[in-house]
Amino acid sequence: MKTVLWVLTALLIAISCSKREVNESINNPEIVLETPAEFPALNSSVAQNRPTKYGVELGEKLFHEKRFSGNNTISCASCHNPALAFSDGKPRAVGIYGRTGFRNTPAIQNMAFMKFYNWDGNILQLEKQPLVPIITHEEMNSSILEVIGKIAGDADYKKLFTQAFGDGTITADRIYRSIAQYEYTLISANSKYDRVKRNEGDQFTAEEARGYATFKSKCASCHSTALFTDQSFRNVGFPLNPNAEEAGRGRVTGRPSDQMAFRVPSLRNAIYTAPYGSFGQFPTLRSVLDYFDKGVLDAENLDPILKENGNRIPLTAQEKLDIIAFIETLSDPTFIGK
Ligand code: HEC
Ligand code: HEC
Repeated sequence: MKTVLWVLTALLIAISCSKREVNESINNPEIVLETPAEFPALNSSVAQNRPTKYGVELGEKLFHEKRFSGNNTISCASCHNPALAFSDGKPRAVGIYGRTGFRNTPAIQNMAFMKFYNWDGNILQLEKQPLVPIITHEEMNSSILEVIGKIAGDADYKKLFTQAFGDGTITADRIYRSIAQYEYTLISANSKYDRVKRNEGDQFTAEEARGYATFKSKCASCHSTALFTDQSFRNVGFPLNPNAEEAGRGRVTGRPSDQMAFRVPSLRNAIYTAPYGSFGQFPTLRSVLDYFDKGVLDAENLDPILKENGNRIPLTAQEKLDIIAFIETLSDPTFIGK
């Protein structure tokens, strides 16, 4: 009888222990992404990979993991610096051994609402993106198996993978999913512009209001919606990348009409993301506006909005100042941790 009781007690303890363990791995609540007012709907991939507390925590840790690169020096955050709205302040991205890529590092923000990624939109799903920098010669110059090998013995990762996915197995798919989950949570919608729109007490200055009006008439046909991009691809006649590999969207579709067409970039947090253009042709916002005003490069597929205007967007000096003041209202200091 005594032994039976003892066995029963032991069994109970064992059950409650394992129950606690199971609970620990299951207690990983979803992080519900709220769509800010006037934003487009979440893209369809998010529903297949909803962010969870530990998935996001793991994704953030991986985002800062230097062992992603062949010589353990470059993480995603080396190029996507949170303090610069996840851009890098350089004309073209600089990766492992100081190797320079051929494009400018874009900000990472509001990705959950985007349908295309990269300057040419060659990636349609965020989960499919992280492999690219890992294997790219000018970025991290590694392989996913090498990365998994390096972090496999790390107890912190084992714990996080367990918390995020139920067991400690490290797979490529789980790495991509958790990084994407983290990126889905990078939502910027707390700028002065947003607060004005939401009637939260803020008001545009006279200069900002004039800038907004000019912006609506001269820029918002492309930099539209609450994302400040209509997510279309257009050739706007910016100075050409000397790298012969560059063809913009034409690289993806092979269509002459897509030659040197680029995804319209969001202008949110643009104050933090200089230099501008697909390979950082422009050091300042003012230089972008001066260029539009002076006249852009002609091309057969130059966007009709420019073509019908003599290949330019005419702007007075005052309009330029006003537009820049307006773009400053798209800055979200909370997003960059200020
Ligand atoms: C060497 C610098 C560098 C590193 C390292 C790097 N990136 Fe990037 N990232 C870029 C550049 C440049 C682009 C634009 C590529 C293009 O348009 O072809 C980009 C594009 C992106 C985009 C698309 C953004 C958009 O607006 O569409 C995401 C998301 C992204 N990177 C995430 C990551 C993640 C995750 C990692 C780590 C696994 C990473 N990057 C590592 C430079 C870098
Ligand atoms: C016909 C569509 C169109 C119009 C109109 C337009 N843009 Fe753009 N804009 C683009 C595209 C496309 C790019 C990227 C082009 C490239 O890099 O080759 C771009 C790039 C930019 C950039 C650089 C952003 C970055 O992160 O690199 C700024 C700033 C900008 N535009 C501001 C404006 C302003 C301000 C106006 C109005 C005066 C304006 N744009 C009008 C399509 C447009």
